[in-house]
Amino acid sequence: MNPLQSQRVLSGMRPTGQLHLGHYHGVLKNWVQLQHQYHCFFFVADWHALTTEYENPQTIAPNIWDMVIDWLAVGIDPEVATLFIQSRVPEHAELHLLLSMITPLSWLERVPTYKDQQQKLKDKNLSTYGFLGYPLLQSADILIYKATQVPVGEDQVPHVEITREVARHFNHLYGYESNYESLVDLAIKKMGKKNAKTYQQLRNKFQEQGDNAALVGAKYLVETQQNLAVQDQERLIDYLEGTGKTILPEPQALLTPAARMPGLDGQKMSKSYGNTITLRDSPDQISRKIKTMPTDPARIRRTDPGNPDKCPVWQFHLIYSNDEIKQWVQTGCRSAHIGCIDCKQPVIEAMQAELQPIRERGEEYTRKNTVREIIDEGSIRAQKVAYQTISEVREAMGLNK
Ligand code: TRP
Ligand code: SF4
Repeated sequence: MNPLQSQRVLSGMRPTGQLHLGHYHGVLKNWVQLQHQYHCFFFVADWHALTTEYENPQTIAPNIWDMVIDWLAVGIDPEVATLFIQSRVPEHAELHLLLSMITPLSWLERVPTYKDQQQKLKDKNLSTYGFLGYPLLQSADILIYKATQVPVGEDQVPHVEITREVARHFNHLYGYESNYESLVDLAIKKMGKKNAKTYQQLRNKFQEQGDNAALVGAKYLVETQQNLAVQDQERLIDYLEGTGKTILPEPQALLTPAARMPGLDGQKMSKSYGNTITLRDSPDQISRKIKTMPTDPARIRRTDPGNPDKCPVWQFHLIYSNDEIKQWVQTGCRSAHIGCIDCKQPVIEAMQAELQPIRERGEEYTRKNTVREIIDEGSIRAQKVAYQTISEVREAMGLNK
């Protein structure tokens, strides 16, 4: 087995409907790569969608299925990655509830997306309990699978950060066995007087002065105690750092290389700007959209020279064209040797070529009508893992009576 398979990657997407080239270049291409390197869980965050769409929840369901088909179309392989819907695994909700008991309000209020989104979506009332809890629900999504890596864009990094804080806080509160202190005392005694004293001194030095050399020394001391059982050694090492047992491991954000996919108007590609090319656009639609794209406004007549830096078409050449074509655009545009129609042609062809296999695979999945089955299976697989974690969490919190 690939050693990285023991690490779990988890990521989710809100069901916003048909995906576009921005999603493909910014997120999905990365997921396709990751699925072969790690054990991946990819899910539809339908509860997260509800935090903003609660007034029109009926829009969510069709978006879910369109989105999953698009995932499959780009090459996410349900045999390799686990695909599911958040609301099919109620363990997310239970963990969210339990975490809400220990999460200070101030941690949620200071997450930057909270105020930003409220500002941005002014037409919606987002002064709700659910919306404030958005990042904590995301923490539950991540921690319920003990994910080690979470591929996200820049904007989501604070959510992974709060997840780490919540996990640390949880472990700190509940990561001790009920008779932890006395077990630690016993283990220390087993080292013999002299070593026990050294251990205590080194521990104090690390805890009070942050002396890392003392930590290393104490660990070494513990690990070289022949007469200590492994459990005792682990206890003593945990006790050194004051962490207790790790029940919920802290995840890492796996920053997706910022492939900023420009839209048809040069702004970031986004459904809300109406400047997208979707993964399902036909060759004709692609061609029409590119042909009507704005270009450098200085090129009023064919004979007016232009500047690619002022033209959104050039942004596409940067993504799709080789050096030779880029050179041809640069000189041709600046000298008015080529027209904008000529210039757009290689972009049209490259996009059509990129989207053709995606569209075909999407159509095949639609025809085979297996999406629901895929999600049923994935949700069951996901739930097995989630159930394991929630059992440990209940146990740690004393709820398994
Ligand atoms: N908040 C994420 C977004 O808007 C979606 C999401 C929900 C998510 N839960 C997650 C992403 C867990 C990564 C991990 O894009
Ligand atoms: Fe833009 Fe190309 Fe026209 Fe220059 S020639 S303005 S780069 S479309």
